[in-house]
Amino acid sequence: MDDLLVRAARGERTERPPVWMMRQAGRHIPEYREIREEYSFLDAIKTPAVAEEITLLPWEYYRPDGLVMFSDILTVLEPLGFSYHIESGVGPVVENPVEGPADADRSMGDVREELDYVGALLRRLTESVGDETTIIGFAGGPFTLASYAVAGEPSRTHRPLRALRARNPDAFRALLDSFAEVVREYLRFQIDNGADVLQLFDTYAGELTTADYREFLLPLHQRILDGLDVPTIIFVRRMNGRLDLLEASGADAVSLDWTVDMATAREQLGEVPVQGNLDPTALYGDTDAVREQTREIIEAAGPEGHILNLGHGVHRDTPVDSVEAFVETAKEWQWDG
Ligand code: CP3
Repeated sequence: MDDLLVRAARGERTERPPVWMMRQAGRHIPEYREIREEYSFLDAIKTPAVAEEITLLPWEYYRPDGLVMFSDILTVLEPLGFSYHIESGVGPVVENPVEGPADADRSMGDVREELDYVGALLRRLTESVGDETTIIGFAGGPFTLASYAVAGEPSRTHRPLRALRARNPDAFRALLDSFAEVVREYLRFQIDNGADVLQLFDTYAGELTTADYREFLLPLHQRILDGLDVPTIIFVRRMNGRLDLLEASGADAVSLDWTVDMATAREQLGEVPVQGNLDPTALYGDTDAVREQTREIIEAAGPEGHILNLGHGVHRDTPVDSVEAFVETAKEWQWDG
């Protein structure tokens, strides 16, 4: 296998950009919706054969250069003693959220045992497609996980967690630390079970002030990513103008949301590999427009260290034709020389 994705994540020049999509294995694929009629979300991710089948759906449709394991960032809640489920129409719900400062410093269960279903999934994927494509594992970052653990439900502004920061900075720090510890262990476990590339999703962390981000979160990103021996990618939304904080995480590559101008990012980040960043809603346009906008991103990024992706996840009602046009544009690309 020509491991384009691994090469690009390490900053090498590639003949064309490798391509995959965040949330590529979700509701926009008809067969996913059929499987979900039979299995709840949690049953699906906890049953390795089913999770494997779902992971492979985008492979059958698009042949992307990377397959992201079908799972969720919230799996690590359980080893920290939280119970959760996904409620349709609401999103993730944590049944026993953090109630106060005394609750914030959590002890960690046995990650390898409690999340063995994720290890089993990665082993299956390695066996079935490991020679043909790159297997992408992932984990949530401390801020994003803590947001659910404190609010107990999706929170657009993350006010409950930010209020904890203001009322009790020690508890805030202890909670983020607990998540960092479990995530660090979890990513090592994924490497041991076959993940070729890892992405850290601290999607919501851009809500922090820059000073708080630097003080509380950056050292944890560094601790989580330090010493991993596969290429790593970090994704945080709303970091336009402070991409240096993502670079400083120690991740090999920085994933850009769609508000970041690719050419500007390249100027700011120099040689740092980047991922992204087509606006996911661009996929609602006609396929010619999708191709055109995708080509503009590839051009602006240049031939070295670029992984083509969206600026965030695929929306549930995205037409398959548009996704196909997006992936094909990368696959047909050829840098000269
Ligand atoms: O295809 C892939 O990208 C792999 C799987 C994946 C899922 N979630 C599947 C999923 C990944 C990488 C995630 C990450 C994730 N999960 C994040 C970080 C990245 C991001 O997109 O912001 C976050 C914040 C979560 C938490 C979470 N889990 C949310 C917000 C939701 C959606 C809730 C909803 O009702 O829309 C989930 C559930 C979830 N995770 C679904 C999928 C496909 C939808 C389940 C369904 O209704 O079928």
